[in-house]
Amino acid sequence: MSKIIAGNWKMHGTVASVRALAAAVAVHPAKDAEVILCPPALFLNEVAAAIAGSSVKLGGQDCHEAAEGAFTGDISAAMLKGVGCTHVIVGHSERRRQYSEGSGKVRQKAARAIAEGLTPIICVGEMQKDREGGKAQEVVERQVRESVPENASLSQFLLAYEPVWAIGTGRTPTPDDIVAMHRFVRGVASAARVLYGGSVKGANAAEILRIAEVAGALVGGASLDAKEFGEIIDAAAAA
Ligand code: PGA
Repeated sequence: MSKIIAGNWKMHGTVASVRALAAAVAVHPAKDAEVILCPPALFLNEVAAAIAGSSVKLGGQDCHEAAEGAFTGDISAAMLKGVGCTHVIVGHSERRRQYSEGSGKVRQKAARAIAEGLTPIICVGEMQKDREGGKAQEVVERQVRESVPENASLSQFLLAYEPVWAIGTGRTPTPDDIVAMHRFVRGVASAARVLYGGSVKGANAAEILRIAEVAGALVGGASLDAKEFGEIIDAAAAA
């Protein structure tokens, strides 16, 4: 199965920069990788236009759990679908922490995404203190059990294991730790596909993507640089 490389651009970019970045990714040979770009919602249309005709897919960074309604500032899964998204990230640790989104809400968002025909990328991951306290698996298990919709079939969602202490820090778990956690998560989630996220870059992508239990990468910072992101795509194709 091809590895999935998803770029989470977070709150970065301008109309001009996202056009250029998406256009560069669109012409990069994806070979055997499935590439997904998750720009800020405001730029989804720009990116959709730039990747039209390529194999690159489009994803949102979050969606509301309701179908529609009086939710000022929010975006529905149906809206994402309507502008061409196939995927949506839910439960990213930045949203869990900065917006107090618990796993119950993440599960509702994932269920809504599935109901609208999107594939949610459901993020889980322990904090530094959890790992230091020997609680990483316990925390991640609870997040997985409480965030994945109960009746979701394996083809309907992806998980992303993103240790919070590895996000944007340049630090990554050892390959052995990644293997151990991915095996563990797949054990909890009936062998679901699990992406790894947290400081993935061109220089470490091959080592991480070569791990059989790693279905792909969710890339933040390095996805904002076309050359760096291209190196990760190349590493996925070679894995
Ligand atoms: P990073 O972010 O690659 O910049 O560590 C990953 C993420 O937040 O998904």
